[in-house]
Amino acid sequence: MRVLSGIQPTGRFHWGNYFGAIRQYIDLQHNEQAFYFIADLHALTTIRDPQHLRDYTQYAALDLLALGLDPSHATLFVQSDIPEVTELTWLLMTVTQMHLLEKCHAYKDKRAKGLPADAGLFTYPVLMAADILLYDSDVVPVGSDQVQHVEVTRDVAQRFNTIFNKEVFVLPNARTLDESAKVPGVDGEKMSKSYNNTVDLFEPENKLRKKLMSIKTDSTPVEEAKNPDTCSVFALYKLFSSPERQSELAARYRAGGMGYGEAKQELFEIAWQFFAEARTRREKLAADPSTLRDILKDGAERARRKAAEVLDRARKACGLYGRIKAAPK
Ligand code: ADP
Ligand code: TRP
Repeated sequence: MRVLSGIQPTGRFHWGNYFGAIRQYIDLQHNEQAFYFIADLHALTTIRDPQHLRDYTQYAALDLLALGLDPSHATLFVQSDIPEVTELTWLLMTVTQMHLLEKCHAYKDKRAKGLPADAGLFTYPVLMAADILLYDSDVVPVGSDQVQHVEVTRDVAQRFNTIFNKEVFVLPNARTLDESAKVPGVDGEKMSKSYNNTVDLFEPENKLRKKLMSIKTDSTPVEEAKNPDTCSVFALYKLFSSPERQSELAARYRAGGMGYGEAKQELFEIAWQFFAEARTRREKLAADPSTLRDILKDGAERARRKAAEVLDRARKACGLYGRIKAAPK
């Protein structure tokens, strides 16, 4: 069974991305054949600064590897290294009904706000369908906001298979990630790049400490009892700690006499420790660009082998003439 997912390099990864998605991708790599890619072509619909796109793509790869994505288990690649994906997007576009895309929320939301939307944003779900279908993916782990796009993928695949009367594409299933651990940001709202309230995964020590100290709390005085269940500091602490350590800190909240500053310090210590190994791995890898290049090159080669096979099936099914192997001199 093949599991595939993509993550957009639209900024630095934060704690929400890790606990809501990345950690689960990493867990899946042990039991399934996993393909993970950095969706730089999708990110082009929002990032217009080429240096940012290059940097975020590199950081995404470094982060994923540092956090435990193992290239000997999973295939890691950059979306734009597989040119087959844009060709397949076109083939799929010819069988995608407009009304399906008009319903998709990324586009709909932008239109509802009166913002201009370009064709890239409108056809974004077709590129995503190509990402999924190109590798005969069976299972697509995604956040709940992306389930709609996997449904579109199934619809488009089915339509292509029906129109050309051939089982060209495997129909994928979405697997919704466990989002029960919705990670709050420093302002107490859901952590998200768009709310500017993130704690990034590999912040330098001082910056991390400062950021955690800025987490919004209520104004209960130090000596009074506090409620851990309504406190963002505690919600974040829970992500990193064992049930025993959670009960210990909860008891200190309820006993009174502990200020929020102290709880924030506990959070800093545990979070710093939690990512210590990953931080070291990331520093090592960042200092060795040729290893990173080799990993991504190897991933792209593996992905392309599969992509070429599936694209060939699709081209043949719809009657595209044979491929000229080499360009004329
Ligand atoms: P952002 O909201 O910062 O732009 P993305 O939408 O790019 O983040 O999210 C990428 C992945 O991380 C998605 O699978 C999403 O469900 C997960 N994720 C993002 N923020 C959180 C959060 N605060 N809690 C849990 N999961 C999150
Ligand atoms: N659109 C997805 C997101 O914003 C990223 C993505 C691109 C993806 N292609 C994909 C996810 C294919 C799963 C499968 O999160």
